Amino acid sequence: MARLSVDLCGLRMKNPTMLASGVLDETGKSMVAVAKAGAGAIVTKSVGREPRPGHGNPCVVELECGLLNAMGLPNPGIEAFAQEIREAKKAGVPIIGSVFGGSEDEMAGLTMAMQRAGADAVELNLSCPHARGYGTELGSTPEAVESVCRRAKQDLKVPLFAKLTPNTPSISALAVAAAHGGADGVVAINTLKGMAISTEARMPILANKVGGLSGPAIKPVGLRCVYEIYDSVEIPIIGVGGICSGRDALEYVMAGASAVQIGTAVWTEGPGVFSKVCREMLAFMEENGFKTVGELVGVAHAGGR
Ligand code: SIN
Repeated sequence: MARLSVDLCGLRMKNPTMLASGVLDETGKSMVAVAKAGAGAIVTKSVGREPRPGHGNPCVVELECGLLNAMGLPNPGIEAFAQEIREAKKAGVPIIGSVFGGSEDEMAGLTMAMQRAGADAVELNLSCPHARGYGTELGSTPEAVESVCRRAKQDLKVPLFAKLTPNTPSISALAVAAAHGGADGVVAINTLKGMAISTEARMPILANKVGGLSGPAIKPVGLRCVYEIYDSVEIPIIGVGGICSGRDALEYVMAGASAVQIGTAVWTEGPGVFSKVCREMLAFMEENGFKTVGELVGVAHAGGR
């Protein structure tokens, strides 16, 4: 009998799917609802030190191949968000607090605040491609990634994950740096920097002009990144980018992911996508004689790492 449960850096998950940061994760209640729908863990909306309104509208464009967003990291600030974490904990699945900051000190402070609020792990957003002063601006070089991870990990007791950008010449160099800095795992990938133009208005559609592309269009990029990272680090990889089905999730696992995150498909299909993905993964495992997800991690690397 196959089972989907996984242990990710000590986080016990009933299945390897997580809600990716940014969709239905702004309130404790919505996070509980997504967990009830089947997610094995929840990543919160990225939270900063102060309340932030984000970019103006339009901030999301629906494309045939996915979504382009430039929300601009809107959030109520860590102090107010701590209450949402406490509410989310009622879900009974690991809650991973996502944080963004403009400096190492700010990131480290937010990381500790997330731990105090009860988060079971922290995800450093080092990869938002369009918020000036944040995200990729702290995560685009191996030196910066290593340093911010080391500082954030200093007094942290819960696992630390670094969410990496694909908008780089070498994502594996960033993953190696995160591991050197003490990250317990890496999350790959955040969105690809892109643009959509209205031919009628003859201007970019997003108020911010550029945004992050997510959804099915980026799955091949995400898979390539996870595959490359798996060859470079020993720490677990959480795969994200365009997962809509059990087969998509299994592709990420075979590339080297120990768990996966789903975001855009929650927007397009609703939270029911988690139970669908899990059902399809389990059916594949039963049909092909795999008992645990771990047996499938990295199998696309013939001959091992
Ligand atoms: C946003 O809030 O603009 C998206 C965050 C991200 O891409 O990391």
